[in-house]
Amino acid sequence: MEIQVVAGGIQSAEDDLIVINLFEGVEMPEGATGAVDQAMSGAIRELIADGDFQGKRGEIAVLYPRGAIPASRVAVVGLGPQEQFTLESVRHAAAAAARKARDLGVKSFSSIVHGGGAGGYALEGAAQAVVEGTVLGLYRYQELKNKPPDRPDPERFTLVQFDESALPAVEKGAELGEIVAEAACLARDLINRPANYATPSDLAELAMEIASEFDTMRCQVLSEEDADELGMGSFLGVAQGSEEPAVFIVMEHNPGREDLDTVVLVGKGITFDSGGISLKPAEKMDRMRGDMGGAAAVLATMLVVGQLEIPLHVVGLMPATENLPSGHAYKPGDVITAMNGKTIEVINTDAEGRLVLADALAYAARFEPKAVVDLATLTGACVIALGRGMAAGAFYSDEGLLARLQAASQATGERIWPMPLYDEYLANLESMTADLANSGDRMGGVGTSAMFLKQFAEGYPWAHLDVAGMTFEERSPSPKLPAYLQKGGTGFGVRLLVQFLRDWAATD
Ligand code: BES
Ligand code: MN
Ligand code: ZN
Repeated sequence: MEIQVVAGGIQSAEDDLIVINLFEGVEMPEGATGAVDQAMSGAIRELIADGDFQGKRGEIAVLYPRGAIPASRVAVVGLGPQEQFTLESVRHAAAAAARKARDLGVKSFSSIVHGGGAGGYALEGAAQAVVEGTVLGLYRYQELKNKPPDRPDPERFTLVQFDESALPAVEKGAELGEIVAEAACLARDLINRPANYATPSDLAELAMEIASEFDTMRCQVLSEEDADELGMGSFLGVAQGSEEPAVFIVMEHNPGREDLDTVVLVGKGITFDSGGISLKPAEKMDRMRGDMGGAAAVLATMLVVGQLEIPLHVVGLMPATENLPSGHAYKPGDVITAMNGKTIEVINTDAEGRLVLADALAYAARFEPKAVVDLATLTGACVIALGRGMAAGAFYSDEGLLARLQAASQATGERIWPMPLYDEYLANLESMTADLANSGDRMGGVGTSAMFLKQFAEGYPWAHLDVAGMTFEERSPSPKLPAYLQKGGTGFGVRLLVQFLRDWAATD
């Protein structure tokens, strides 16, 4: 879909559909919506007065102007209550409108910049949110279906901005929104893609391809042999049960630029988590193809980092492997040695995420980073604690780093919630045979997992986001679900990380 920005009044747009908005409870439309209402001799006022439209978030009414304006259809989309309005309302409304456009078989549609007028948001951010909602709302995973979808995507989407002097801000926001949302869709694809189509080698190939697009970026794919030489016994322990070669992917933007701050992003890349010898139950095990959601977010973020030429030294680390049972697999009771020399007793082979991250976090130290942020679908316990789709659990060794992530979370609507890292969690990880066990008591399992990671995240400010409940959406579309989400991979973390890095680059 082509996305463009033009100046003018939306009532003059010659499209199959134009999109305008209303806050909940408004009876007398103003601005662009008012202009369309007037051109249509009060049709929108009548819609409201008759009680057919309340303006709830994502609510949509379609009107037929029958020649009163050039467009053949008008969609009025609800923004919800004005006092609860945020950019999240904008994404929701834009996504609902885009889906309606597709359902109607529309080829081209235009929209005003929701929130740019009465919403009081800066136009750039509002335009970004409209495009994000539109692109994310239209996302669907089609690559392995032979039959094309019943309704093709619209071919063109136009953002219409009345005030010509504000055009540059809208253009900038729209461009940013498209880049970031397309990257989130890439992460969604990687999560939805079956494990036999998204192997560690496939991820490595994609990382190489992305890096080759930018002069500023390089990518190194460490083989199992390389990892062995580095002493990554923890990562390799997980990998040894699978016939698929494991890879440790290192992407670097602006390598060697000592004048720039270094930020390392780490993503858990288990391309399929069967649990290993500590086998998971069969039900919904297919979902575990999404156990590389952290790596998907980091990979997609690196793409944006390259596109936006973010002035930071950004490193993306993605330890990627399957976790499978076999005659070669690591077993409960085995002791493995991580890159920092610590020995680990494998109590449960299904606690594999922390094992691959242990080596990645130890490896991160060699970059002497100002911050390391890891994203991992690490524990079911985090989902129990916070709920599905509610927030990522945020553990941290540095308050300032948490604050930066919280600011990015606010701006993007990708929620994180701070969690405690009590020293006492370490008692759960006592081992009879090694320095550390890889799992302990079920109670407080999310804190224990983070405390395990902390043993390897030494020498730099660190934050860990447990995204187990955030990367895969289980609900089908409903008014309660933001319209920019659908069943399957969410791409959670991409928008958050990009915002975090952009803010960092802007302030330091
Ligand atoms: N990948 C899972 C965690 C997970 C669960 C992700 C649900 C997404 C949705 C992880 O590797 C795992 O199996 N964790 C175990 C840890 C336990 C064995 C200590 C868990 O949460 O049960
Ligand atoms: Mn597991
Ligand atoms: Zn896992």
